[in-house]
Amino acid sequence: MLSTPEVVNKNYDLIYEPAEDTFLLLDLFEELQPYFVTKKFNHKTPLVVEIGTGSGIVSTFINKYILPKSVIISTDLNPHSCVSLISTNKHNNPQSSNLDAIRTDLVSGFHNNSIDILVFNPPYVPAEYIPSVEDAEKNEYNWVDIALNGGPEGMDITNKLLDRLDQCMSVDGEAYILFCARNKPDVVVEQFKRKNNSNFSVERVIHRKAGWEELSVYKFQKLR
Ligand SMILES: C[S@@+](CC[C@H](N)C(=O)[O-])C[C@H]1O[C@@H](n2cnc3c(N)ncnc32)[C@H](O)[C@@H]1O
Repeated sequence: MLSTPEVVNKNYDLIYEPAEDTFLLLDLFEELQPYFVTKKFNHKTPLVVEIGTGSGIVSTFINKYILPKSVIISTDLNPHSCVSLISTNKHNNPQSSNLDAIRTDLVSGFHNNSIDILVFNPPYVPAEYIPSVEDAEKNEYNWVDIALNGGPEGMDITNKLLDRLDQCMSVDGEAYILFCARNKPDVVVEQFKRKNNSNFSVERVIHRKAGWEELSVYKFQKLR
């Protein structure tokens, strides 16, 4: 079993504390390790993007154990998360020079067709109110609600990414996106397939009951 990276900045009033959803992604990537060893990527050096890096633990894990020869760029709206990613990675992978953070919205700033592996544990909790970045800059306690709250069905942020997936992913690129049962992922996937015709294959790759929550990760693979 691969060891879980240690987070250096544990100020969980400002950044998302790793939880069941985070650990589901770590377990998935550990399972996928042999698959990635043989996978042929579209780019010689694959580009891995984690959206919403939080503490940075998932990107650090992927960098250390799963895709150490890739370039990893992780995004977050929350500046404390961008800083946490860098310190978490430095602490756990002192030699690494292939990872960085960008404070941006989802995948804004990336070229079209550039991302080979995308990972997103989004704010998926159904909650009407999503604070704005301006709200969080005025009152820092709003960052945790930005990490959790996903609008009425918990899908507001994930849907924005799904609308941009065809544009940002490379051919053969794979996006791993986490859902809770209340997001109705089966319905979301059907709607996504209708909009994107047959340009993507979609499958559920891991599923777990976590207390009263049921979590799944779906893989969206862009076809040739
Ligand atoms: C559920 S947390 C996941 C954190 C971490 N990846 C993990 O698994 O522990 C969601 C993260 O997404 C970030 N986030 C929310 N909306 C975002 C957006 N539009 N663009 C980039 N990041 C966003 C939050 O600040 C938060 O760090």
